[in-house]
Amino acid sequence: MNKTAKIIIEDKEYQLPIIEGSQGEKALDIKKLRDDSGYITYDIGYKNTGSTSSNITFIDGEEGILHYRGYAIEELAEKAEFLEVAYLLIYGKLPNQSEYSDWKNKLTRHSLVHEDVKKVFDAYPTGAHPMGQLMTMMSMMSSFYPNAQDPHNTQEDRDLTIVRMMAKMPNLCAMMAKKRNGHPVLYPNNSFDYIENYLYMTFGNPCEPYQIDPVVKSAMNKLLILHADHEQNCSASTVRMVGSAHTNLWATIASGIAALWGPLHGGANQEVLEMLQEIKDSGFTSKQYVEKVKNKEAGVRLMGFGHRVYKNFDPRAKIIKKACDDILNKLGVKDPLLEIAKELEEMALSDSYFVERKLYPNVDFYSGIIYRALGYPTDMFTVLFALGRLPGWIAQWKEMLEDKQPISRPRQIYTGEQPRAFVDIKNR
Ligand code: CMC
Repeated sequence: MNKTAKIIIEDKEYQLPIIEGSQGEKALDIKKLRDDSGYITYDIGYKNTGSTSSNITFIDGEEGILHYRGYAIEELAEKAEFLEVAYLLIYGKLPNQSEYSDWKNKLTRHSLVHEDVKKVFDAYPTGAHPMGQLMTMMSMMSSFYPNAQDPHNTQEDRDLTIVRMMAKMPNLCAMMAKKRNGHPVLYPNNSFDYIENYLYMTFGNPCEPYQIDPVVKSAMNKLLILHADHEQNCSASTVRMVGSAHTNLWATIASGIAALWGPLHGGANQEVLEMLQEIKDSGFTSKQYVEKVKNKEAGVRLMGFGHRVYKNFDPRAKIIKKACDDILNKLGVKDPLLEIAKELEEMALSDSYFVERKLYPNVDFYSGIIYRALGYPTDMFTVLFALGRLPGWIAQWKEMLEDKQPISRPRQIYTGEQPRAFVDIKNR
């Protein structure tokens, strides 16, 4: 029997259908509430609003659970390859052997980027933030593939756009690393796989053969998987919102990159490293820094802490913290910032300010220390997040389109002036 909830507004009763998810989450369907009662719901920042139903990712924030298509993140991070996870997110199932080799072949064959893209890179100011460059490159790609303009193209066209985007993304990200160093851009090398190629195009040079370090490759694989999707976060919701206007996929993903860049979202990984560096350079103790945070000094937050959904722990942060120790040990890196991070974490976890507000380390708290140990400059960290998140954004966009979801268009409560007459400029 369909369940309903009763809501009484100004003594009048309304029935609202109850929707239940496959993991027991419950929602009130308020679609018709305005038509029936004249009321809308009000929830700035969508703190308690379900914007869609989805089969892709499940999070239980109270229990610290994260699943992609039913598979636990812990198991995927341990056993899977990033491209398997990307396929799982986008196409809904783990690929069998022939599907997987076909997927990898396609991604290899489409990895070259049009030569004219390099000209745009050349014109970009040196030192520009890589996320700004990535956003521009991504939206520009739509001009190179005019047949991808219409998201209602055939399934075949849509799949080709997905393959092209996944295949070229490592190349675009690596180009920015080369530009910042003033080094020649490297073309992908088909003897390397997806992650190897990205490492080669980023760290290799034309003068000598590039040796893949298995520790670095495996760290990248884990980090990309951990970032691959996170249900209706700010950038995924942006992708769904922009995509709901039937904007083409390239421009839609560019909007996701813009959202991710923000320091409260993916940009936090850069901010964490800068915060740790600031503590080290300024001679502040961790305790003094935590006091600044608690006193809410302007603009000071403990970056890499807190999450809208996780109120116990972030399972990704747990995996990354452990991986951080392993990877730094294997690479023989001793990073004083890791010690500061651990001290901050310990202090925060036993402090009532953080305990009462349920603030725990999130995915960004330790990831930057690993990226740094792997040799990435700080402003590339959020680009690495985007590289991992791309399949998640594509999956969210594809599901939104295939479910024929309507254009996203929230309502508001207007709090401005009453209607008034225009006053001529001479009389103001
Ligand atoms: N440091 C200090 N205080 C904090 C922090 C923090 N990192 N995060 C939240 N608070 C406080 C906040 O001041 C507020 O206190 P009060 O009740 O006294 O006003 C309370 O905790 C609730 O915070 P909120 O800002 O209302 O919570 P939110 O759900 O709107 O924000 C957040 C979530 C992630 C934006 C926030 O925790 C934050 O700014 N964290 C730091 C940035 C960060 O690490 N972002 C990465 C998020 S995970 C990666 C991703 O998927 O994006």
